[in-house]
Amino acid sequence: MPVYLDHAATTPMLPEAVAAYIAALDIVGNPSSIHSQGQNAKRMLEEARERVAESLGCEPIEVVFTSGGTEAVNLAVKGLFWARNFPTGDRVASAGGRIEPSRRRILVPRGEHHATIDTVEWLERYEGAIIDWLPIDSLGRVRLDALAASLEEHDDVALLTLLWANNEVGTVQPVAEAVALASRYGVPVHCDAISAYRHLPIDFAASGLAALSVSAHKIGGPLGIGALILDRSAVVVPLIHGGGQQRDVRSGTQDVPAAISFGVAAQHPVSSFAALRDRLIAGVRESVPSAVLRGEPEASGRLDNNAHFTFPGCEGDSLLFLLDAAKVSVSTGSACRAGIPEASHVLLGMGLSEADARGALRITVGHTTTETDIDAFLRALPEAVARASRAGLNDRDVAARPGSVDA
Ligand SMILES: Cc1ncc(COP(=O)(O)O)c(C=O)c1O
Repeated sequence: MPVYLDHAATTPMLPEAVAAYIAALDIVGNPSSIHSQGQNAKRMLEEARERVAESLGCEPIEVVFTSGGTEAVNLAVKGLFWARNFPTGDRVASAGGRIEPSRRRILVPRGEHHATIDTVEWLERYEGAIIDWLPIDSLGRVRLDALAASLEEHDDVALLTLLWANNEVGTVQPVAEAVALASRYGVPVHCDAISAYRHLPIDFAASGLAALSVSAHKIGGPLGIGALILDRSAVVVPLIHGGGQQRDVRSGTQDVPAAISFGVAAQHPVSSFAALRDRLIAGVRESVPSAVLRGEPEASGRLDNNAHFTFPGCEGDSLLFLLDAAKVSVSTGSACRAGIPEASHVLLGMGLSEADARGALRITVGHTTTETDIDAFLRALPEAVARASRAGLNDRDVAARPGSVDA
C-alpha cells in the first residue's frame, strides 16, 4: 500500500462522511420542490448548512454551497469586484454603452493559490481590473507595510483577497491585521481559508471578513463541494444564474448528498497533526542535512499538517517521481499546478532563486497518517535525494542549452 503524504492536495474521506454520503444517495426529492419529499431533502440540506456554519462561526444563511473551493474563490473575487463597481447591477448606461469600473484595483499578495491568481488575472484581462501584487516576506507572509501603503495611496480599491494560510509552505497569514487595515478604508476582504479550515480556529463572525472560501475535500468530505461564507451584508454579483437558489447568489439545484457529507466532515472532532509534522521535519533534517525548511519555522505560525523543504541541487519533480517509485506520494507544491514543471511562484516571491525554488517538496500529513508512514518516507528520502541531485544537474544542463524551453 503506497504511503500517502499529500493531504494538502486532498485528504481521504472520513469513514463517517462516506457513510453519510452513501445513505444520502437514497434521498428522493429536489430541495426546491414544495411537496413533502422535496421539503425533506431541504430539511437535510439545511441541517448540513447549519453544521458547516457552526464549524466556521457564521450564520447558516451565510453559507453558500458551491462546486468546490475554486468556484467559491471565483464567486467572491469576481462577485465582489463587480458589485463594488456596479452597485445597481447595471453595466450598461441608460444612454447605452458600457460603464467602466471606477474601483478597478484588487490587492493580492504574491503567494496566493492559482484559484485566486488566475481569477484576478482574468479580471485584469477582460474587466479592466488593476492588480496590486503585494510582496511577501522570506517566510511567505504578506507584508503589511505594503498593504497599508497601497490602501493609503489608492482610492480605487475594490477588494483585498488573501490566504488564511499558504497552501504550499504552510505559513499562517496575518489575516486579522490585514482586515483591520482594510476596514479603515472601507475595503471588503475575501479570505481563501481552504488550507486552514479545520487546522486553525476560524470565527467568521468575529473576523470582519466579507467573504471566506472553504472546500470539503480538504477536510475529509467529498470532492466537488465547497462553500463561500458570505457576510449577510456583503453583496456579490452571481456567476451562475438560474433558479435563484441560495440567496440568489448561486443558482442551481443543490447537491444534497455532498452537502450532508460535507456537514458531517465539518462536525468531525478536530485533531492536531503537529506531532506527526514535527517528527517529519526533524527526520528530514536528520536524514538529509542539506535540506532547507521553508515557511515559518515556529510551530504556531505554520499549518500543523505541513512540512516543506527545498533540496539544493535537486529537481522537485525528479524527487517526486523517485519517491513515487518507492511508493510514497508527496507533492512539489500546489497540486493544481502539478505536471507543469515551473518554479513555485510562492518560493520566488519569498526571494528564492529559480534553481532553489525548483528543488521543492511539500509533505503533508492527515487523519490516515501514522508514524510508520513517516518513517517509510524518511527511509526512502536519502536515496531519492542522491539520485535526484544527479538528475537535477542533468536537467539543468539541458535547460541551460540555448533554445531550450527554460533558457
Ligand atoms: C489554498 C487553496 N485554494 C483553493 C484551492 C482550490 O480548491 P478546490 O480543489 O476545492 O477547487 C485549493 C486546493 O488545492 C487550495 O489549497
